[in-house]
Amino acid sequence: MKLKFSALAAAALAVTMFATTAAEAAKIGVSMPTQSLQRWNQDGSNMKAMLEQSGHDVDLQYAGDNDIPTQVNQIENMIAAGNEVIVIAAIDGSALTEVLKGAKEKNIPVIAYDRLIMNSDAVSYYATFDNTKVGRLQGQYIVDALDLDNKTEPVNIEFFTGPTDDNNVNFFWGGAMSVLQPYLDSGKLKVPSGQTTKEQCATLNWNLEEAQKRMENIISSVGYGPEDTPLAAVLAQNDACANGVTNALLATGYDNTNMPIITGQDCDKPAVKNIVRGYQSMSVFKDTRTLAQQVVKMVDAIVNGQEVEVNDTTTYNNGTGVIPSYLCEPVAATKDNYKSLLIDSGYYKADEI
Ligand code: BGC
Repeated sequence: MKLKFSALAAAALAVTMFATTAAEAAKIGVSMPTQSLQRWNQDGSNMKAMLEQSGHDVDLQYAGDNDIPTQVNQIENMIAAGNEVIVIAAIDGSALTEVLKGAKEKNIPVIAYDRLIMNSDAVSYYATFDNTKVGRLQGQYIVDALDLDNKTEPVNIEFFTGPTDDNNVNFFWGGAMSVLQPYLDSGKLKVPSGQTTKEQCATLNWNLEEAQKRMENIISSVGYGPEDTPLAAVLAQNDACANGVTNALLATGYDNTNMPIITGQDCDKPAVKNIVRGYQSMSVFKDTRTLAQQVVKMVDAIVNGQEVEVNDTTTYNNGTGVIPSYLCEPVAATKDNYKSLLIDSGYYKADEI
């Protein structure tokens, strides 16, 4: 009897621990941009699982492959279906103004997930990683790996950014340039393609093949190659771009003995494999479990009428005012620390890498 009681008590405690603050259950809409990139599948499934653990009823939708009209439609349906909070990772941060008027009218709080939704006063909160720091980590990695402070001869670099409709790109770029601009200004870093603005370096939909094509064009126009014009580094803003760049360089004859420094972001499995093989130098680890957890906390607090935890109330203005935000910490991942960051933490199993 006693045993039965303590088992029950333990079960009750476990439920309380899992359910954290969720006294109320609600219908929650979650709109994700695409299933074609690993991270959004993880973001979506982590969030669904955690929201369900909190007792909520979850309507998780993926907008085809980054299809803006599909995302607009899905959000419209979530509003009509009476979801009480809607979480959105926008494809195009500026394309949701009209549809979100419906959320505002019905007083449905909207949480912008990872990417800020612009020009809409329906956005209540924003949860993301410190996007400026992501860019700074990439820039600083290049400065350190090339030992730029002690270099006397200039070295060559190329840039691969994401699409201009993703607001994060501005912050990744700002962070990277806060570190790299002095070296570009002093002439220690040269960009032989001449493509130096984030618009010129943009990659439509963060698409791997687009990045690969642009790298192939740059290789042939500049004449980069292991025996030709030397390329010291490529700042790729995420792993899909890094992967496209890597493919193009491998096809030109580079290998893991002479590969330029290549940055990335997300710690996608193919990128981590490339890091282990010596093809990609680093990625930025953004633990999607942490972000999902933070958003679930936000949802629970909203549903229960409690104060929502934020840690940044100055950085992210979406055109209607500053959106109270929670920024999670990104971490640089390399061959030296990927095991502790990714395997020991249970993010990946060793045999997946
Ligand atoms: C995210 C990155 C991701 C990229 C492509 C960005 O907004 O912050 O983590 O790699 O979108 O999906």
